[in-house]
Amino acid sequence: MKLNLKIWRQANKDAKGKMVDYPIDGIEPDMSFLEMMDVLNEGLITKGEEPVAFDHDCREGICGMCSMHINGRPHGPDDAVTTCQLHMRKFKDGETIHIEPWRAKAFPVLKDLIVDRSAFDRIIQAGGYVNVNTSGRTIDANAIPIPKVNADLAFEAATCIGCGACVAACKNASAMLFVSAKVSQLDLLPQGKVESDTRVLNMVAQMDKEGFGNCTNTGACEAECPKGISLTNIARMNRLYLGASLISEQ
Ligand code: SF4
Ligand code: FES
Repeated sequence: MKLNLKIWRQANKDAKGKMVDYPIDGIEPDMSFLEMMDVLNEGLITKGEEPVAFDHDCREGICGMCSMHINGRPHGPDDAVTTCQLHMRKFKDGETIHIEPWRAKAFPVLKDLIVDRSAFDRIIQAGGYVNVNTSGRTIDANAIPIPKVNADLAFEAATCIGCGACVAACKNASAMLFVSAKVSQLDLLPQGKVESDTRVLNMVAQMDKEGFGNCTNTGACEAECPKGISLTNIARMNRLYLGASLISEQ
């Protein structure tokens, strides 16, 4: 395949970026998108040029690192996949492909296609955990009865990989799908009930502090989420937030 890549190049956080054209040839349809980027970078290095910086780690849809906006969609034109799971057969020979970093105030561009997503880490630090008794008298998790429906919903919420595509897809750059998945994952289990109120209040407060926008029920986040995280998690988080706010005001 022959392609014309238009890639966002930005030397550092403070530099002014721009789209740069990179014609590329010899791409196999069965290559992954990141393998295509590897071929591009090998060519650039051979020519003595600076390779394109992009994030990646697992390359199997688990780590959530491979954040790229491809032809206007987070993670590209395929549904329910991450960029590392996207294949070049989804593009046409001769096609022009626009590749940009996530765009959100809370995700500043560090270099080329790499953005700083540490805002997500700080939201998790604000409450995305459960405290457990480590005295030696810890209850075996298997001894705690959990309704199957809740176990399944918690598991589905836990499949969020923190990639940030929901933020990139949202016109408000809202992180509500990510935060609600993390809140739901813990709140649906008995172990997570103890800190339920403080968790939702603290995580939402941190989310607002980081500069993410609010949810206006557009649904772009759910449509572009590679893990199919449901909007119902946002509804659950809103219910929990309202309840916790009323209790905290008493
Ligand atoms: S909710 Fe989906 S799109 Fe958002 S961070 Fe989690 S996996 Fe990525
Ligand atoms: S590189 Fe880990 S999800 Fe893509």
